[in-house]
Amino acid sequence: MPISTPKPLSQAIRERRSTPSFDGEPMPSSDLRQILDAGLQAPSGYNMQPWRFIVVQQPDNLRKLRSASYNQAKVGEASCVIVACGDRDGWRTDLDEMLRLGREGGMAESYAAAAEKSVPAYLSGFDEEKMACWLNKQVMIAFTSMMLMAECLHYDTAVLEGFEQAKVTETLRLPLSYTPVALLAIGHLQGADKFYGGRFAMSRTVYGEEYGKPLR
Ligand SMILES: Cc1cc2nc3c(=O)[nH]c(=O)nc-3n(C[C@H](O)[C@H](O)[C@H](O)COP(=O)(O)O)c2cc1C
Repeated sequence: MPISTPKPLSQAIRERRSTPSFDGEPMPSSDLRQILDAGLQAPSGYNMQPWRFIVVQQPDNLRKLRSASYNQAKVGEASCVIVACGDRDGWRTDLDEMLRLGREGGMAESYAAAAEKSVPAYLSGFDEEKMACWLNKQVMIAFTSMMLMAECLHYDTAVLEGFEQAKVTETLRLPLSYTPVALLAIGHLQGADKFYGGRFAMSRTVYGEEYGKPLR
């Protein structure tokens, strides 16, 4: 029986584990679209949305993707794998559309006029490494939104960075300006879930006001 009530976000965050194995059942496209939409609603620098997502669902294509991912079985078993990419040329192709949408939503004309110049001025100055860092930030926010939406919809997920970039690029016929950043495998858990690996105490990773001071 389908579960219609979404899981509360706090519960989804608490219960999420990196799924070791999926049952491979196909996913209804309405769920997939809801998950993707959660990603597309994410914030991004200048609202430039430089993420691109390739959704792989066909068993043959999942098998090929598995071969490009160090043969990790869960890539082949998932209901779908979303290959999250960053587009280095996105700011060139999408600036007009970003401004059009912004104006439609109430962006001030003065801001739009300034952004038309400042966005290309800022991003065209990035070298390859800086662009890769910038894209990673943007893509992973959208990626995380999708992961959590999937968990709220009672799916299980696995995040993967274990893949060969060149092989993924070739398998998916990605344009040269795309860099695959991470894979999001979604489906339903098969067998036992992963153990909880624990998390560092807050005192180890969180400071208050400045480095080294405990949070009050
Ligand atoms: C960016 C990123 C990349 C990861 N890549 C892989 C991977 O390629 N294969 C894998 O089995 N797990 C991968 N993981 C899962 C981590 O090992 C896992 O999140 C961590 O051990 C904590 O376990 P938990 O997610 O179950 O809490 C990745 C996680 C992240 C966030």
